[in-house]
Amino acid sequence: MKLSSFAYLAAFGVKTILFRQKKPILGTVIVTDKCNLKCKHCSVNNITAVVHPYEQIKNEMRQLYDMGVRILFFCGGETFLWKDGDKTLRDLVIEAKEMGFLIVNVVTNGTYPLDLPEADLILLSLDGDREKHNDIRGDTYDLIMENIKNATSDNICFYMAINQINKDTVKHVCRTARDTKNVKAVSFNFHTPYPDTKELALTKEEKAKCCKDIKDMIKEKCPVFNLKSAFKYLINNDFPTPCHQCVVIEDGKLSTCGRCIHEEGLCEQCGYFFVAEYTLLFRGNIKIIFEMLMTYLRYI
Ligand SMILES: C[S@@+](CC[C@H](N)C(=O)[O-])C[C@H]1O[C@@H](n2cnc3c(N)ncnc32)[C@H](O)[C@@H]1O
Ligand code: SF4
Ligand code: SF4
Repeated sequence: MKLSSFAYLAAFGVKTILFRQKKPILGTVIVTDKCNLKCKHCSVNNITAVVHPYEQIKNEMRQLYDMGVRILFFCGGETFLWKDGDKTLRDLVIEAKEMGFLIVNVVTNGTYPLDLPEADLILLSLDGDREKHNDIRGDTYDLIMENIKNATSDNICFYMAINQINKDTVKHVCRTARDTKNVKAVSFNFHTPYPDTKELALTKEEKAKCCKDIKDMIKEKCPVFNLKSAFKYLINNDFPTPCHQCVVIEDGKLSTCGRCIHEEGLCEQCGYFFVAEYTLLFRGNIKIIFEMLMTYLRYI
């Protein structure tokens, strides 16, 4: 990260903590909900299957920028399915950088060739070893690994949603992140139980076991892009929600924190690590502040 970007984000953090501000800094644009997969744990694919037009996405990016957002995520559906005429996802990333976003990340299922050198991080969903990943995501593991090998940049971070199916493969994914070319890190979430995927939720004890596995892997020098200090809050689901510093925009509709904010009662069961990490950070949790500084400077 550039020193100027770091200074900007640090100043935002200080102001937010001191004045208890609720302004956003992290924004997500949903470019489409169309997807080529139908993962067992996912409730947000192919609801409309509309690929939003370039001008609309550009306006949404501008809207987020004008609100103060400087860390931008492109998400879906499957982001690599986005195109409009000759414009591709890569053009959106370049445009976001030119607009002034300091960090631009893309979330993908990794089933399309990875050519996004301008992105700071490509969050690539890997949901276990070959067997468990394919159980959840269809027969895609080998294709994804091939795409990672052939990626044009080394800015890939695995993104694993831990649930009842893959909970015993956390260590495997950590070691794969450490030992795979072009992969910088791994970042986790716990399954957030939408009404149609409740059975995949983890118990408190299972979450505690996963966090222990992640801590063991950090000791084994695996590159984990999460904050250990947030684990106890994630296990107990007692972090503040929603995250007021995060917004998401989908087809012109702006939501605080996530699209899931509209699901009644879901925030109390939230499994998204970024929510715990950001809400605790902006409440001035000293351990989180220190760990976040070290972690972000290492991976971005
Ligand atoms: C909705 S997908 C969109 C991007 C892309 N299609 C992908 O799979 O990475 C974004 C991330 O959300 C995760 N996810 C989906 N449903 C979830 C849930 N109920 N709880 C936690 N993570 C979930 C996916 O595993 C994926 O890592
Ligand atoms: S690839 Fe992503 S959007 Fe598509 S079904 Fe899986 S988790 Fe959902
Ligand atoms: S706190 Fe609520 S809105 Fe935010 S990610 Fe979690 S479930 Fe979604």
